[in-house]
Amino acid sequence: MADVIFEPLKFKNLTVKNRIFRSNVSGRFDNYDGSGNQARINWEEKFARGGVGAIMSSYVPVQLHGRIMPGYATIHRDDEIPFWRAVGKAVHKWDCKYILQLSHGGRQRDIPGVEFPIAQSSTSRPDPLHGFECKAMTKAEIDETVAAFGEGARRAREAGLDGVELHGANGYLITQFLSSAINDRKDDYGGPLENRARFVIEIVKSIRKRVGADFHLQMKISATEYNNALLALRLEKPGNVVGDSIQVCKWLIDAGVDSIHVSTGSSFPHPRNPCGSDLPVDLLSQTYEQLASSGSNTFRNLLLFRHDLTADLFRQQWLHAGVPADQIEGLSLPDSRAIKQAVSVPVICTGGFQTASFIRDAITRGDCDGVSMARPLIANNDLVKQFAAGHDRAAKPCTYCNKCLVHVVEHPIGCYEESRFDSRDEMLAEIMSVFSPSVWT
Ligand SMILES: Cc1cc2nc3c(=O)[nH]c(=O)nc-3n(C[C@H](O)[C@H](O)[C@H](O)COP(=O)(O)O)c2cc1C
Ligand code: SF4
Repeated sequence: MADVIFEPLKFKNLTVKNRIFRSNVSGRFDNYDGSGNQARINWEEKFARGGVGAIMSSYVPVQLHGRIMPGYATIHRDDEIPFWRAVGKAVHKWDCKYILQLSHGGRQRDIPGVEFPIAQSSTSRPDPLHGFECKAMTKAEIDETVAAFGEGARRAREAGLDGVELHGANGYLITQFLSSAINDRKDDYGGPLENRARFVIEIVKSIRKRVGADFHLQMKISATEYNNALLALRLEKPGNVVGDSIQVCKWLIDAGVDSIHVSTGSSFPHPRNPCGSDLPVDLLSQTYEQLASSGSNTFRNLLLFRHDLTADLFRQQWLHAGVPADQIEGLSLPDSRAIKQAVSVPVICTGGFQTASFIRDAITRGDCDGVSMARPLIANNDLVKQFAAGHDRAAKPCTYCNKCLVHVVEHPIGCYEESRFDSRDEMLAEIMSVFSPSVWT
């Protein structure tokens, strides 16, 4: 019998050769001004070569003040089109599609950079964890950003890419408008769900105006926000639940969205996303230093992470707010299933997937049409090829240790779980392989 994992997935404007997508993964490969680098091309090509049907790009800002840290390639000006064309070309060589994630961070940032210390958001309340300063956007600023998403999509299409994804998940600007916990506006963009969804619906319409009806457009959404999951955030409201998100997805599809990518959590990271078997606080106490001067809470947090007792308390809380290690695989499937039952477009689910039989069952049961993977593919770039060869799991699977995540604010993205390698040197060689070939060949 044919394996459902290797059946093509047909969207309205795009066909992908199998059901495994590389989920969005950011890494600091690029230049300070948002121009791209060969290392990112090498990085993306690794996954295309490894057999995924499509790659969803890293977080790509549509405006420079929408970035979460310098060093991520942007799409905020026409000058970036040739770079993205080169990325697409490298990936297409492997019969793999490339979907660019149009993004704006709003108040949720890691390192603001020198130009825009104060963020734009739906609210003037700083994010509760790091305390990055922000200001509620004016109507003129909203209009500018809506237009910038449209322009970003137009550039992606001109670059020959296969589609775009709205980063409407994980606490970034679109979530900041959608969320009942974050959005405290009193104008047409705040209050009832219909108003909170106005911003993203205007973005979809702006994109359709710029690219027409026949270019793939999908939305990544945090179906359930769990905004007050951490003990320290108990005074916060819980945020949107899956019923709210189902309604938002229906409006988005009416406005021109072709697919939904289901995620979770009102922030990034969040105890449920990427959901870890552990939180490496010892490592966090080193790399978090990068954030220490930017937010009103970040220096305090750094001290908490550096003291054994408070670091362990934070770690315990974080793990308690997630799910047990043996339930990480497919943790968002219940939300995905609820959305899939309510909409007619394909639904992709993210979160913990790395076992072929588990994925096959999820698709066959109708919980989703495809899955996206981030960490399991960082650990095993060729996991899809391994599935095709009949393996149910990689010999050295991702341990969900989240060291890749904690390293990424300071070091090159890659798998930092030493136990998966024969030696530390082997691990570092694999991480650094992304810098070869360099641009100077
Ligand atoms: C290091 C790292 C960087 C990530 N960067 C992004 C990003 O830029 N955009 C995004 O939507 N999700 C991002 N994610 C979330 C993943 O795309 C994915 O949805 C999440 O990690 C759950 O999938 P997994 O269990 O397969 O890792 C990132 C995850 C990791 C670990
Ligand atoms: S460091 Fe490696 S094993 Fe750990 S979560 Fe990241 S990819 Fe998985």
